[in-house]
Amino acid sequence: MTTIYWFSGTGNSLALARDIARHLGGDVPLVPIASLGTRPVTVEGAFGVVCPVYFYGLPLVVREFLGRMRSEGSPYAFAALTAGGFAGRAPVQARALLRRAGKDPDAVYVVTTPGNYIAMYDVRGAEARQRAIAGAHEAAERIAAGVKGGATAFVHASPAARAMNAVFYATFGREFSITCRRRDRRFFATEACTHCGACSRVCPVGNIDLVDGRPRWRGHCEQCFACIHWCPEAAIQIRRTATAKRSRYHHPGVSLDDIGSQRRRPE
Ligand SMILES: Cc1cc2nc3c(=O)[nH]c(=O)nc-3n(C[C@H](O)[C@H](O)[C@H](O)COP(=O)(O)O)c2cc1C
Ligand code: SF4
Ligand code: SF4
Repeated sequence: MTTIYWFSGTGNSLALARDIARHLGGDVPLVPIASLGTRPVTVEGAFGVVCPVYFYGLPLVVREFLGRMRSEGSPYAFAALTAGGFAGRAPVQARALLRRAGKDPDAVYVVTTPGNYIAMYDVRGAEARQRAIAGAHEAAERIAAGVKGGATAFVHASPAARAMNAVFYATFGREFSITCRRRDRRFFATEACTHCGACSRVCPVGNIDLVDGRPRWRGHCEQCFACIHWCPEAAIQIRRTATAKRSRYHHPGVSLDDIGSQRRRPE
């Protein structure tokens, strides 16, 4: 049995995790990383980690999860990282964190998906999105075949590419790691807000309170952009960016409740 641990804001990683599970067949538990809170986790069976790339590294919630996890005799492990275009140091970071957790991974994949970082660029057109989604479906089949066959697979990077990845990570990734949780200070809801509460329901880490029906961010943000993309009125913007002019995106096969279901429930 292979367990898949996942984290996702706009559904690309969840759709990939589900696809891999479907191709694997049988019993494949899909465990939302955010639902585990700060509990230590011991894994004995085969497992995979599926999550997005944030600023050329892994999301903080995933790094922290891997820091608490212990693999004891797992026969196989893989990571599958979804990225809009350039994964940078994320594959190396995933491998290092898994090693530290006790399992040198057998495979680390980067899967190109529609990019959702609308603080910097607009969502790509429908055709390009469809192409990326179709490519991710094919990747899921390959990844599942690799798990079944015990394949080894890593992202090859030339020495020059490795050096560039390290520079990008040192320049942008580190700063992101330090500021991530408080970056929600720049989020705000415009007058288009209808007080529907969807942003609060979708947040995977419970970082949004509703005050008089409007979102108030609490300062422990993962920067997954779920609130921004799932707001039905596109009312959530980021100060000093062009988000007001940009489109919203979520994977067509994933629902708001799927994303909200990651959240840890009170015990
Ligand atoms: C805060 C943030 C940072 C991102 N950084 C990168 C990046 O460094 N490289 C990249 O290729 N894509 C980057 N992206 C795009 C996402 O990795 C990509 O859209 C991913 O598939 C989203 O996964 P999800 O739908 O499961 O949330 C970033 C997205 C966000 C929200
Ligand atoms: S999802 Fe959008 S419209 Fe609904 S409460 Fe949040 S900001 Fe307002
Ligand atoms: S506040 Fe928004 S961006 Fe931050 S973790 Fe929650 S849904 Fe994601």
